[in-house]
Amino acid sequence: MTAQKFIIEGGTPLQGELKIQGAKNSVLPIIAAAAMCSGETVIENCPEITDTYSSTRIMTHLGFNCVFENNTMIIRSSGQRISEIPDELMREMRSSIIYMGALTGSLGECTMTFPGGCELGPRPIDMHIAALKKLGAKVSDEYGIIRCSAENGLHGAKINLNYPSVGTTENIMLAAALAKGETVIYNAAREPEISDLAGFLNRCGAKIKGAGNSTVIIEGVKKLHGCTYSVMPDRIAAATYIAAAASSGGEITLDGIDRGVCESCISVFEQMGCKFYEYSNRIYVDAKRKLKGVNKITTMPHPGFPTDAQAVIMAALCKSSGSSIFVENIFENRYRHVDALVKMGADIKVIGKAAIVNGVDKLYGAKVSATDLRGGAAMAVAGLGAEGITEISEIRHIDRGYENFEGAITKLGGNIRRA
Ligand code: UD1
Repeated sequence: MTAQKFIIEGGTPLQGELKIQGAKNSVLPIIAAAAMCSGETVIENCPEITDTYSSTRIMTHLGFNCVFENNTMIIRSSGQRISEIPDELMREMRSSIIYMGALTGSLGECTMTFPGGCELGPRPIDMHIAALKKLGAKVSDEYGIIRCSAENGLHGAKINLNYPSVGTTENIMLAAALAKGETVIYNAAREPEISDLAGFLNRCGAKIKGAGNSTVIIEGVKKLHGCTYSVMPDRIAAATYIAAAASSGGEITLDGIDRGVCESCISVFEQMGCKFYEYSNRIYVDAKRKLKGVNKITTMPHPGFPTDAQAVIMAALCKSSGSSIFVENIFENRYRHVDALVKMGADIKVIGKAAIVNGVDKLYGAKVSATDLRGGAAMAVAGLGAEGITEISEIRHIDRGYENFEGAITKLGGNIRRA
């Protein structure tokens, strides 16, 4: 397939209403959790993004029939189960690591390689492995091939995370759901997507309490069965479209999402001068005024400001009055979009973990290349508020997490096409 590009003509304020897609970071662990269930699982509000398709390929390889149509995925076991994931499937996305807990928990073994998705700097899996060991698995790593085994099944354990890792918390929840006895996770990640995964697992018969808090208690059950479940809305996609409205000076309504789930981002947009009104599962955003710089935006585990929204909000702030300071605490290499924004006329300086954005009056369209999922989206946000044409290459990164991105922007009156 030839590489595709987005061609964006900036300058039109976004306007209109958009239904927010299902959350990427929820649906990926939920699909993996379906590998632990008997019978049929129906996942609704499933986003049509390439990471979902990568998950489907893994599930098909593992012995499941997956039918994915109209944002609904139906997963059924074909009877034959496989516990090994080949390298080419593992490398398609970082989230493939989540199958470690799902497979070891349900089959007592798994063999896999290291997951892909290293574009944000080193992404070790030491916490995942240590947690699986605590639950009774033997784990070996020979030449990059990881083997987990628990001949007599996993057992409950008390696991104290030294950092509230999202993926590790999810992997423990999956592995412990079918383990013997009780597992307690201390210092668990509190992201809303963790609660969504627990909601799904509980509907399948799991006994998980406290998800969304720092202490999560999982009482192992003997069996999980399929269910019908609707994935929560994507708060990072919402932040991206709000940033696009802010960058272009528009006003939009997001349908299918409550303010609460986006609070840490919305409070920053409010400091930037955007106005929000919430009504019946919709958020109206008025971003017509000139944006103001924000003192300091520090990325933190939930409920702090999410690292995934850093790039898109930075893109909107390029054209603000005054200066803004970002501090990126989660990933080492998460300012890769900055060079592209500077090429478009932004004034940004990166010093270690900090990025200082001095607002400018105008951005100008340029030829840029998406570096990663959210970084690529940030370039589109900047392009929508820039004068002239922005051409973004390597948009496969954007397609990993945004459902029909060009369709969404077009619906809001933005000028974008895929070439
Ligand atoms: C998830 C999200 C990602 C988001 C991130 C932080 C999904 C599919 N992805 O990623 O979009 O940016 O949370 O909110 O949900 N770490 C270790 N060792 C480990 C695991 C993690 O050192 O074994 C470090 C990571 O390198 C990183 C930090 O912990 O610096 C946070 O990682 P984690 O919360 O695990 O993020 P992910 O689950 O990979």
